[in-house]
Amino acid sequence: MLAAPINPGDINMVQGKYVVQPPLPAVGGNEGVGQVEEVGSKVTTLKLGDWVLPSDSGFGTWRTRAVCPEAALLRVPSELPLLSAATIGMNPASAYRMLHDFTMLSPGDTVIQNGANSAVGQAVIQIAASLGLVSINIIRDRPELSKLVAKLKAMGGDFVFSEVELRRPDVREVLKKLCKPRLALNCVGGKSATELLRNLERHGTMVTYGGMSMQPVIIPTSALIFNDIKIVGFSVTRWKRHHSHDGSAYKRMLTELCSLARSGKLTAPACAEVPFRDFRAALEAAAKPFASEKQVLVM
Ligand SMILES: NC(=O)c1ccc[n+]([C@@H]2O[C@H](COP(=O)([O-])OP(=O)(O)OC[C@H]3O[C@@H](n4cnc5c(N)ncnc54)[C@H](OP(=O)(O)O)[C@@H]3O)[C@@H](O)[C@H]2O)c1
Repeated sequence: MLAAPINPGDINMVQGKYVVQPPLPAVGGNEGVGQVEEVGSKVTTLKLGDWVLPSDSGFGTWRTRAVCPEAALLRVPSELPLLSAATIGMNPASAYRMLHDFTMLSPGDTVIQNGANSAVGQAVIQIAASLGLVSINIIRDRPELSKLVAKLKAMGGDFVFSEVELRRPDVREVLKKLCKPRLALNCVGGKSATELLRNLERHGTMVTYGGMSMQPVIIPTSALIFNDIKIVGFSVTRWKRHHSHDGSAYKRMLTELCSLARSGKLTAPACAEVPFRDFRAALEAAAKPFASEKQVLVM
């Protein structure tokens, strides 16, 4: 292994609360990039020196070495920046799927999301921009809010508001002038998800993929009855397993994501590179709020 991030889902897996659980004893970490050091005589798709990602969740990427079947790995271009390669397989993949699989979106259409500064959120901003979509991005209030707003706008976010700003009359006026979002992506749950629903177009879809506030998703009855809003969930792990019989869908998506990354249209989230031996400090830092930085273990 070369590098592997610490994602909230990895912590959930350690807590026994993830969508899939590996048999114990297990190595933590679901995402990361490795380099092939040796291949068996029947291996045809990989060679020495190739950079590879796990093809499924539960690989156990927080380690220095692994021996695994060829099918457990997918090749990525070794010209990618290390941090992009280490963080492309889960969060950008989720952003890509949610922007493509739930509703037909055309250039000029609007999407709204909360948790917009999360790694998934940053990928949503960049992929949406590359598709010509308008993004409305909601983040939590914090000290030095304007710095984060500027950063997300520089990344391609068209509108960035804090949760408090979203309820302000002047911001409502700004939003009224836009096409209403057809798709909402919910990373947070609780009241934040309810606010997304208030802004969604009639017949729109809200996809829940995270529950960072640890609060249930609250859905006003009128959203369902009057506005015919569809409420669905997404798991990239389920998606990968569902498509595992035929690796081509994942390969196609990865090719597109890598090409966006190589052209500079999809950058890695802000990362703190931590030597693997300091994993305890990295785990502690990953649990802190308002970090806006992904901890990446560098092997
Ligand atoms: N379903 C799937 O397929 C899938 C795939 C990938 C990720 N996920 C989920 O998506 C979420 C984000 O993952 P990530 O790796 O992108 O995260 P990340 O980069 O570590 O960022 C965490 C995000 O959560 C926010 N947050 C933390 N505590 C919060 C709280 N109490 N209330 C509201 N927001 C809070 C942070 O905002 P602040 O800066 O304000 O703290 C930040 O935006 C996680 O729940 C993860 O499990 C799901």
